[in-house]
Amino acid sequence: MNGPAPPPRVAVIGANGHGRWHRRVIAPLHAAGRLRLVALVDVRPVEDDPNAPVPPGVQVFTDHRAMLAAARPEVVVICTPPHTHLPIARDALAAGADLLLEKPPVLSLAEHEELSAALAAAGRVAQVGFQALGSAALTALTDALAAGRLGTVTGIATVAAWQRPDAYYARSPWAGRRSVDGRPVLDGALANPLAHAVMQCLAVAETLGGAPQWPVAIEVERYRVRPIEVEDTAVLRVRFRAGPPVLAAVTLAAEEFVAGEVVVTGTAGLAVLEYPTDRLRLPGDVVTRRVPGRRGMLENLLAHRADPAGTPLIAPLARTAPFTALLDALRAAPEPRLLDGDLVSVVGDGGERVRHLRDVVDVLRRAAERGALPCELAVPWAVPAYRAELAG
Ligand SMILES: NC(=O)c1ccc[n+]([C@@H]2O[C@H](COP(=O)([O-])OP(=O)(O)OC[C@H]3O[C@@H](n4cnc5c(N)ncnc54)[C@H](O)[C@@H]3O)[C@@H](O)[C@H]2O)c1
Repeated sequence: MNGPAPPPRVAVIGANGHGRWHRRVIAPLHAAGRLRLVALVDVRPVEDDPNAPVPPGVQVFTDHRAMLAAARPEVVVICTPPHTHLPIARDALAAGADLLLEKPPVLSLAEHEELSAALAAAGRVAQVGFQALGSAALTALTDALAAGRLGTVTGIATVAAWQRPDAYYARSPWAGRRSVDGRPVLDGALANPLAHAVMQCLAVAETLGGAPQWPVAIEVERYRVRPIEVEDTAVLRVRFRAGPPVLAAVTLAAEEFVAGEVVVTGTAGLAVLEYPTDRLRLPGDVVTRRVPGRRGMLENLLAHRADPAGTPLIAPLARTAPFTALLDALRAAPEPRLLDGDLVSVVGDGGERVRHLRDVVDVLRRAAERGALPCELAVPWAVPAYRAELAG
């Protein structure tokens, strides 16, 4: 007699860094028998995490190919540096696994096409780690848009203002780099730490258009306050074939913390979603309310594997194509302007030292409110925008 199917075998490649977050997500699912963690892989020693102790029987590897051959996982979480995603994904697909692939999934449209083809050839799926797409707050916003509560939407904007200390850039050889060993890395604020802000805006555009919206043009200003190769501060305007533009105004050099707001402006009112905390204010709301509930990306992937037609993936690779199109366009942008002198203040010591760009939050907020770039707002340190049209 057949018993219940054994739980899917799961492995994590890139077990430190953000991989520890995945291990914490996996721990209760493993304990509940909903999956079986079979292996962890990292080129460095796997760090202890009190909230995700390595369960007995889990094998630890330094080479993902050796792991794929020995542990035969059915689902692989890939949480390694962005420039390693495609080759590792290829190997995992060849070994017959489905993927939970961290964002940014790949770094160019050519890589996106290659991965799409590899998925199709292997008959497997990839969920991309844009976890804020699984939030009930985003669904509440997109439901309100679909119901016409904002009237005609005229603008989509995001402001996020974080701080990243020296230790963040020192933690890994790829941090803050444009390329490593001749391969693009694009570890700028837009492509990596604040990618979710951009992706949430693309999700709003997708709701308005009824399908992922293809960017046709970008205008961008990029800045840095430290000797890195990419931006820590940027304002990006994205235009689509139809529908309102997106304006993303972000920094990792903020004096004041703004978690990440997505502001949707319509003829009948304004909505604000704070995407990292799932707080939402819709037209007519007196206060901002928290809309709890996030569908987990791994749980959704497991549910999709069990019932592909009944449970769609939250973030299938195809949904991220417009995001990757933006990375493609950003790759050709000139080096970000270095801002220093009186514009920048240095606070703290050692690895915790941060650099603040003076009044940056005010500039970003004005940019988002007006849908304008700093050069259009006559900000004294603004450079002329880089403009590019996108094919396709
Ligand atoms: N979804 C999110 O909110 C979120 C948050 C942080 C990071 N990320 C993404 O997760 C990925 C990893 O980022 P991070 O900040 O943890 O990077 P990191 O450099 O801090 O950690 C990456 C880990 O992967 C290991 N590694 C590198 N190459 C490897 C290989 N070939 N095989 C096995 N292990 C390897 C490193 O030793 C390191 O432990 C990136 O794509 C990043 O954008 C996503």
